[in-house]
Amino acid sequence: MSFLTKNYRRKKIAFIRGKGSFLFSTKGEKYLDFVQGIAVNSLGHANPKLIKTLRNQSKKIWHVSNAFIIPEGERLAKKIAQNTFADYVMFQNSGAEATEAAIKVARRYFYSIGKPKKNRILCIKNSFHGRTIAAIYASGSKKMTEGFGPKVLGFDHFKFGDHKSLKKKITKNTAAIMVETIMGEGGIKVIPDWCLKGLRKLCNKKKILLILDEVQCGIGRSGDFFAFEKSKVKPDIVPIAKGIGGGFPIGAVLMNKKVASGMIAGTHGSTFGGNPLAMQIGNTVFDIISKKSFLNNVKKNSKYFLAQLNNIQKKYPNIIKEVRGRGFLIGLQLYKDQTKFIKKLMDYKMLTIRAAENVVRILPPLNVKKTELDMALKILNKVCSSY
Ligand SMILES: Cc1ncc(COP(=O)(O)O)c(C=O)c1O
Repeated sequence: MSFLTKNYRRKKIAFIRGKGSFLFSTKGEKYLDFVQGIAVNSLGHANPKLIKTLRNQSKKIWHVSNAFIIPEGERLAKKIAQNTFADYVMFQNSGAEATEAAIKVARRYFYSIGKPKKNRILCIKNSFHGRTIAAIYASGSKKMTEGFGPKVLGFDHFKFGDHKSLKKKITKNTAAIMVETIMGEGGIKVIPDWCLKGLRKLCNKKKILLILDEVQCGIGRSGDFFAFEKSKVKPDIVPIAKGIGGGFPIGAVLMNKKVASGMIAGTHGSTFGGNPLAMQIGNTVFDIISKKSFLNNVKKNSKYFLAQLNNIQKKYPNIIKEVRGRGFLIGLQLYKDQTKFIKKLMDYKMLTIRAAENVVRILPPLNVKKTELDMALKILNKVCSSY
């Protein structure tokens, strides 16, 4: 009997060890892990550089309060500021905390310039920004909010792709538009570059802020460090998490100078956010993934993999409706419920995970080998042919 609450529908399998793209179960079975903790283990399991960092830092210092200067966090924030749109960084522990903190930053900015009524956040209906009480209401999902009332106020919603409704929903009280650059849980739906440009223009025109949630699609997953980079759009606020820790819980809110001006002492805090152990790991992950050669490799390998997946789709057009995504944030949209397909992949020792709209989500580590991609393609072909 398990003494854990039943809020997860767990598969009846446990893993004791991981190495790169593979997981080893308690029964000694080897699985190709194309879930990677849902886009978390960006560098695969048991990455030697991350192990070295963890070992070294664990002997020095794990945790000190944010009441003191934390040099490891200062270093990571400096790297982020020098290499991205961001001027300032505020460290958290998870994605939901990062998206909630992003909302706080937006509201606090307008408060600080004497416009406290400008506090509403406009989001995509059935998006995903986390499971905390405000984040579920930001997501606008009936299923996620059911039983958790009273409703958290301050969020408006528009349908993905419905530009008319988006414009209509902006009022004098809107502070920001918050969207995932690529919707992950929502079914791997990419916001096209021209839409991102349009969003930026609209935000400028209405004098509101643009928050791009890159918790799932950021940190190299799309082939660029951030998924929005290709569009050349500069957001005001970007929550990140997952991939930046490579398996260690880290979250952060990145922001420009303008909005950071509202975050004066005492406006936000986190006991664990930005502790030395997390920050040293974040530094190592950032150093590896932000390298142009690393990102070029993600682009090259994912281009190959996506092309092959499209071939499989063409071969089995009655099973796979569409191949979605960018980089290594990939979704196979099936015509029918994907549960059986995911189970069959698992029978062939390949792990994937569901997303909305009958999507099978495929999330290899960013440093996956071509031979491992070929192994996945072989399994996918096998499952399709016997489906
Ligand atoms: C886009 C996005 N935002 C926020 C979150 C919440 O992150 P966490 O589960 O770390 O709280 C997720 C998690 O899947 C996500 O995909």
